Amino acid sequence: VPHRDGDRDVTQQILDLLDQKPTLRSSEDLADVSQVEIKAALDRLASRSMVTYETADSELVVLTKEGQAISDEGSHEFKVWEAVKQAGKVAIKELPGLVKNADVKVGQGNAFRNKWIKKDGDSLIPLADEVQDTTRAELQKIGETKRVEAPKALADLKKRKLVTTTKVFSYTVQKGDKYAKVMPVEVTDLTADMLADGSWESANFKPYNFNALGAPQNAGALHPLNKVRAEFRNIFFNQGFVEMPTARFVDSGFWNFDALFVPQQHPARDMQDTFFISDPAAADPPRDDPIAEQAMKEMEEGARRLYSNPEAEKQIKPRDYEKYFQNIIDVHQDGAFGSIGYRYPWSKEECLRLVLRTHTTAVSTWVLHRLAEDPRPARYFSIDRVFRNETVDATHLAEFHQIEGVIADFGLTLGGLQKFLETFFAHIGITNLRFKPAYNPYTEPSMEIFGYHTGLAKWVEIGNSGMFRPEMLLPMGLPADLRVYGFGLSLERPTMIKYGVSNIRDLLGHKVDLNFIESNAAVRLDKN
Ligand code: PHE
Repeated sequence: VPHRDGDRDVTQQILDLLDQKPTLRSSEDLADVSQVEIKAALDRLASRSMVTYETADSELVVLTKEGQAISDEGSHEFKVWEAVKQAGKVAIKELPGLVKNADVKVGQGNAFRNKWIKKDGDSLIPLADEVQDTTRAELQKIGETKRVEAPKALADLKKRKLVTTTKVFSYTVQKGDKYAKVMPVEVTDLTADMLADGSWESANFKPYNFNALGAPQNAGALHPLNKVRAEFRNIFFNQGFVEMPTARFVDSGFWNFDALFVPQQHPARDMQDTFFISDPAAADPPRDDPIAEQAMKEMEEGARRLYSNPEAEKQIKPRDYEKYFQNIIDVHQDGAFGSIGYRYPWSKEECLRLVLRTHTTAVSTWVLHRLAEDPRPARYFSIDRVFRNETVDATHLAEFHQIEGVIADFGLTLGGLQKFLETFFAHIGITNLRFKPAYNPYTEPSMEIFGYHTGLAKWVEIGNSGMFRPEMLLPMGLPADLRVYGFGLSLERPTMIKYGVSNIRDLLGHKVDLNFIESNAAVRLDKN
C-alpha cells in the first residue's frame, strides 16, 4: 500500500493534541478529518502503544436534497400559500406557473389541511394572513443538530424522503505507554551496515502490520455461471453420475427431435423456437462418427475408472445406424414397437436439417442409444449451452445453459423419480417439491417441478422431468424393462437466485458488467 502523507499529518495532529490535553474526542477535536484517515492514524499509533482509544458509533440525521431545499427556501405548502397570498386569488390551473421548485400537488394538499388556503370555484384564495412554516423550521434545526429526538418523527421524515441517516464513529483517545511528542523514526530494513556497526541493537524497527489489507490483485475471475455449474457437477458426481460429451452446439434434427419422437409438425420445431443452419443445409444421416465416438469412449473410460463396473468393461460394439434410422422412420410414420406412431408422411429432409440444439436432451439421446449396445443401469448428466429463438427479455435469452440428468435402470417407477428429484434439489436448498403434469413428446408421464425456495421464501418453477417414452427407447434397441428418467433445469435460474440478479442480461451477453464478474463472491449452494 503506497505511503499516504495525509495519515502522517493526522498522526502528528493527534500526538500534538494529546500533548495539550489528556483526552481527545475525534468528533470535536478532529471534526474536519475524514473517518478513514482518523482510523488509519489511530491504528498506526495504537499498534505502537503510543495511544489507546475507544470507539463509539452514533446515528446522524442528514437532510436529503429535497429536505435541504425546504430548509433553504420553505416547504411546498408554504410556497403555495405564499403564491396565493401574494396574488390574492389564483386559478388552480395557473398555480404551477407561480410556484417555483416545489411539488405543487403536495403543497396544495398540505396547505388545505393546514387551513392556509381554500377553494373558491376554480380558484384558490388565502385563508390565513400569517403562517408558521413548521416543516422548514424543523428541517433547519435538524440541519444544525443532525439529530431527531422522537423516533416517530424521524420515521415520518424518512418516509417523506426529507432526511436520511448515516452512522458515524467517534473516537476517544488517550496517551498510551509509549506516547511521545513525535513518531520516532522507524527502521524498515535490517542492513549489512547495521549488523557491522552494531546499530541494529538500538534501532527502532517498524512493527509488522498484520492488519494491513493486501493490494488488490489483477487476477482472473470465474463467471458466476461457472461457479454454480461447478457446484452442480459435484452434486452429480457425488451421486454416481457420468458427464456426457456436449461439445457440439450444432446437431441434426434427427438427434434433436426425431430420435426423441418429436413429430415433424411439432410447434417446437418450427421457426419460432429453433435456429436452423442454412449452410450447410443438411446433415448426413446418423452414422459412425470418429469424433463423437472418441468423446463417448472417454466418457465410458472415465466412468469405469470411477466405478470400476466390470460389466462395462465389455468392448462397445459399433452401432447399426441404418437400422436405427429406419426404426425412427417406422415409429413416426406407421407405428412400431407396440406404438401406433403419428401416422404422417415422414420427411427425411426435415430430419436432416441442421439446428442449433434446442436442448441437451439431444446429447442424452445419443448417449442412450450407445447404451443399447450394453444395456445396464447408468447415470448421466450434462451442463451446457442450448439455443432457442425467443424474444429476449429480462428472464429470457436466445441462448442459455441446461442442466440435465438421465438415469437408466431396470424397473424404475415414477415415484422413484420424484424421490430422486427431492434428494437432488435438497442439495441446493429447495425442498417440498410439487409436481404438475406436463407434456413432452419424448416423456410420458411428464412433470413440471416446483419447489419451495427457503432463501426466497416462495414457490418457484425449477424444472421439467419425465420418463422417456418407449417410442424413443425401443428403436434404440434398449430392452423393454429398462426404464429411463430424464430431467432438466436451467443453470441461469439458480444462478440468478443465488446472486440476486433479476435481469438475465446482467449475467450473460454483451451487457454484463465485468466488475460484477470480478467481484462477486464464491458460491456455496445452501445444503439441507
Ligand atoms: N428437454 C427438456 C427441456 O428442454 C428437459 C427434459 C429433459 C425433460 C429430460 C424431460 C426429460 O426442458
